[in-house]
Amino acid sequence: MLTNAPRGTKDILPAQIAGWRYVENKIRTLCRNYGYEEIRTPVFEHTELFQRGIGEGTDVVDKEMYTFTDRGGRSITLRPENTASVVRAYLQNKLYADGGLVKLFYTGSMFRYDRPQAGRLREFHQFGVEALGEQNPALDAEIILLAWDLLKSLGLENLRLKINTVGCAKCRPVYRQKLQHYFSDNFDDLCEDCKHRLNKNPMRILDCKVDGDKEFIEDAPKIETCLCDECREHFARVQKLLKAAGVEFELDARLVRGLDYYTKTAFEIQYAELGAQSALAGGGRYDGLVEEIGGAPTPGIGFAVGIERILIALEKQNLLPAAENKFDAFIVTAGSDAEITGFDLLTKLRRENISATMDFAKRSVKAQMKQAAKSGARFALILGEEELASASVTVKNLETSAQEKIPLEKVAQIFA
Ligand code: HAM
Repeated sequence: MLTNAPRGTKDILPAQIAGWRYVENKIRTLCRNYGYEEIRTPVFEHTELFQRGIGEGTDVVDKEMYTFTDRGGRSITLRPENTASVVRAYLQNKLYADGGLVKLFYTGSMFRYDRPQAGRLREFHQFGVEALGEQNPALDAEIILLAWDLLKSLGLENLRLKINTVGCAKCRPVYRQKLQHYFSDNFDDLCEDCKHRLNKNPMRILDCKVDGDKEFIEDAPKIETCLCDECREHFARVQKLLKAAGVEFELDARLVRGLDYYTKTAFEIQYAELGAQSALAGGGRYDGLVEEIGGAPTPGIGFAVGIERILIALEKQNLLPAAENKFDAFIVTAGSDAEITGFDLLTKLRRENISATMDFAKRSVKAQMKQAAKSGARFALILGEEELASASVTVKNLETSAQEKIPLEKVAQIFA
């Protein structure tokens, strides 16, 4: 028990770090190019923030939150997502004060209590962006493009971009009512979850995994029959901009997303080989969220992508980078005096920004040479009696096996 991490969590081991860094470096480059600045918010927040922001009646709030009472009697929740937290930080720190658009990105752990399976964890990592303060559909297109460009720049193929509009506070209630009416006629055929959804959140019935293939869901009324002019024009403009940018997308009237705050544009980028957890990235517009959390009416839009899911997709497509060579130099010493000289050399090299290591287990020279080869170092620097006497070091190139003796004080030059 003590040696098992909690179910649904994963250690990220040194051998996996090259993949994480690869993805994180792409994220940072892309965010710089797109003009998004990094924000880091706390891993836990007041529970109410998520209840209000994400919405009661959603699976995330009703079933999946890690909520506890802290020692001061407050209800605290580990963040299940970061949009509500970013909006809270935007308001608390008055990031709106300069006026205009605020563009932010984040990476970090999120927590959801769900049944773990491939691509679904209880602690997982998201990269996300949020743009607050502008309702131009060009921003919707920018956000979708950012998500798309990230995944494409990693080399991923077979991605599907699906988009939809979920309407706004004006037209969505009309659609909800229409759906409630329609699904009431099929009440007995709905799964237990959807029976509950019928009152609280009838749009979620459309993307139910259990009921998904049933014919009456396929035939359910589409939102386009209820959209107000503003939502219709907004969505048409987003599509036009995406087409102009050469991005291929599919319209999916059943894409409703699992969080309550969405308005107008909703989108997902899916990778079918992930199976049941096929969504790599998801997001959309949330023009009512800032107000819901206590700010002045402010439009917003964003998305998040699961980093573990990206890594699974990269692995499936053989796109993970090889682990980096670990060291420039491995110092091999024979005897106690050589160890002192070697340790001094080790420190000097490291201070010159050369990565170096040595044996700490007092192994034989032969065993140290084996270790040097295994470490992936470029050079073995060998210090024996002869070298100590002449203040020199034998440098062995571990790739070519070429060997030469050079003065100790010149050793840093071979790494130049
Ligand atoms: P979401 O669709 O709940 O949206 O999550 C976004 C992505 O996080 C998913 O597509 C998936 O890759 C990853 N993800 C979610 N749950 C898990 C899990 N249990 N295990 C592994 N990966 C997971 C949001 O979180 C919104 N805050 C996105 C957003 C930002 N909308 C607007 N702004």
